[in-house]
Amino acid sequence: MLTKIEQLLAEVENLTATNAEELEALRIKYLSKKGAINALMADFRNVPAEQKKEVGMKLNELKNRAQERISALKEAFECMDNDAAELDLTRTAYPVNLGTRHPLTIVRNEIINIFNRLGFTIADGPEVEDDWHVFSSMNFPEDHPARDMQDTFFIESHPDIILRTHTSSVQSRIMEANQPPIRVICPGRVYRNEAISYRAHCFFHQVEGLYIDKNVSFTDLKQVLLQFAQEMFGPDTKIRLRPSYFPFTEPSAEMDISCDICGGKGCNFCKHTGWVEILGCGMVDPAVLESNGIDSKVYTGYAFGMGVERITNLKYKVKDLRMFSENDTRFLEEFESAN
Ligand code: DAH
Repeated sequence: MLTKIEQLLAEVENLTATNAEELEALRIKYLSKKGAINALMADFRNVPAEQKKEVGMKLNELKNRAQERISALKEAFECMDNDAAELDLTRTAYPVNLGTRHPLTIVRNEIINIFNRLGFTIADGPEVEDDWHVFSSMNFPEDHPARDMQDTFFIESHPDIILRTHTSSVQSRIMEANQPPIRVICPGRVYRNEAISYRAHCFFHQVEGLYIDKNVSFTDLKQVLLQFAQEMFGPDTKIRLRPSYFPFTEPSAEMDISCDICGGKGCNFCKHTGWVEILGCGMVDPAVLESNGIDSKVYTGYAFGMGVERITNLKYKVKDLRMFSENDTRFLEEFESAN
């Protein structure tokens, strides 16, 4: 019996098959109920008791090897099938999925385009900033609540280094490196230590605007913002400026546009006021000009800052801010842009 097992083992080691039918024939020959291995199993009871252990082990080895060998051959066939499919040059090509632009990118580009046409160029600054550019040079008093731990992400080992909380920091970078006339917009990401919810996130996007020259007035600011609002939201859009406070502008204002959902009549979206807030603005505080090396007796300027998410929500009625950063393609594919 041992010789028979050894002989079958040798056969099994060298099994080959060129197609699935041949392989199936081998399986029947060795592994089926009426196959060679089962026949040996049936004979096992005639093996003398003192040989049972050795023969039993060999028999198991044979069975395992046969199973392994036949599975390996089967796998090889399956791989070959796949390779063959890949080599089929007549097969129709897989459709190529074209990406879409992120809604925030679409809106940011639109904002940039509008201001480019009004003569603004693009400026850039670091997201990891120092306290000077984010706060001190922008006229934030030492104890201003915006410096509070709740709003700002600090780098633990360097409390002076922070993640910028607004793009106004780029104003400071531009002023310290350039003399007027300055006319720039600064799009970028900002960070705030806020609990994430449908209406707040720990990072979002802003576009900052800055114009400094001789004789720049509040009227210039108002005209540019009206132009922007009408290009962005349609020619019938109205704007209104409400007095407000920012450390870096004096006077400061917040700008509302007429609600483009109800056309100003009042609805849930505008809380029945007919107006929605879209940005903060004002005349650059002379203290900010001086801190950044610009003579406030010669020059004046205006600045404004808007949230890209806010404008996108208004344009596309996105109700939950978190959707912008979840990368759900079902959401992202809703947006199409020409550029
Ligand atoms: N930095 C302000 C914020 O993050 C927005 C802002 C308001 C920017 C007024 C300005 C401005 O340039 O003049 O809320």
